[in-house]
Amino acid sequence: MQFPAYRGRRMRASANIRRMVRENRLSPDMLIYPLFVTYGSDVKEEISSMPGNYRFSVDKLADEAREIESLGIPAVVLFGIPETKDEKGSEAYNPDGVVQRAIREIKNATPNLVVITDVCIDEYTTHGHCGLVKNGKVLNDPTLALLGAMAITHAQAGADIVAPSDMMDGRIGAVRVALDSSKFPDVSIMSYAAKYASGFYGPFREACDSTPQFGDRSSYQMDPANSEEAIREVAQDITENADIVMVKPALPYLDIIRTVKDKFNMPLAAYNVSGEFSMLVAAADRGWLDLDRVMMESLLSIHRAGADMILTYFAKDAARILNDQ
Ligand code: PBG
Repeated sequence: MQFPAYRGRRMRASANIRRMVRENRLSPDMLIYPLFVTYGSDVKEEISSMPGNYRFSVDKLADEAREIESLGIPAVVLFGIPETKDEKGSEAYNPDGVVQRAIREIKNATPNLVVITDVCIDEYTTHGHCGLVKNGKVLNDPTLALLGAMAITHAQAGADIVAPSDMMDGRIGAVRVALDSSKFPDVSIMSYAAKYASGFYGPFREACDSTPQFGDRSSYQMDPANSEEAIREVAQDITENADIVMVKPALPYLDIIRTVKDKFNMPLAAYNVSGEFSMLVAAADRGWLDLDRVMMESLLSIHRAGADMILTYFAKDAARILNDQ
């Protein structure tokens, strides 16, 4: 194609021409909204580093779920902030824990809203790590049983999809076996398959008070320098029967999203994490960025890179914009 015969600007000449040649479009269908559930009652407190996002007590969730559903968002993902934490994260697999009660409340109010649950004990442990800890080491195999138990309590409460986010080896297989042997073959698994040890989780850890009390998560989450390893991680989780695979975070890892999409014929999710949200909101707050514009551009980029679905704190705002178009 040679200038002047080829002129790319012809296909950008008007809004209608641009609509006709547009390759990718966002839809509320692909959005998943994260919800933080806390103990107590009548609580709806804003997370200071994530404006517009709240910690809700269970009794406040029905209205929120109805609003999310009315915006055309098909699913939520739940995170719990328990009243008490201990070494073993016992509240994570308490059948009457905050998330378990939240699932029942949401399913009661909005039976069709898909409920996804984060399966990981870090929000429930005093040390803040995603696995059992012994002599300063995060143990792999003993943690698998706890993840299985946690997933079962979520399934019993009515969760549609469980999402293990801990990065222990073998967890997808362990959770699948646990669900199947407890007669929950229809509960799906969304695997946080390529989850990186990222600085962009900062605001989330403030929201859940889940910052590790010693060390960091580099012995189980992935090194940001690696991409071939992401392929191995995703392949392994598919072998262990993950139904949906995820790349997390999203924006700094668009290359990984694209590679995973090209390599595997699997539903692919990407997590537009807390730090990716907060930095746009903070810059917009200073008048440096147009929030609606950079929000939609970010989400579109994640979708263009290959994500079929996006977990994002922008889900409600983006759905509002998409519904108005
Ligand atoms: C682990 C978990 C984390 C996030 C989702 N699941 C935190 C972590 O690994 O430290 C982060 C999500 C975000 O930053 O928005 N339970």
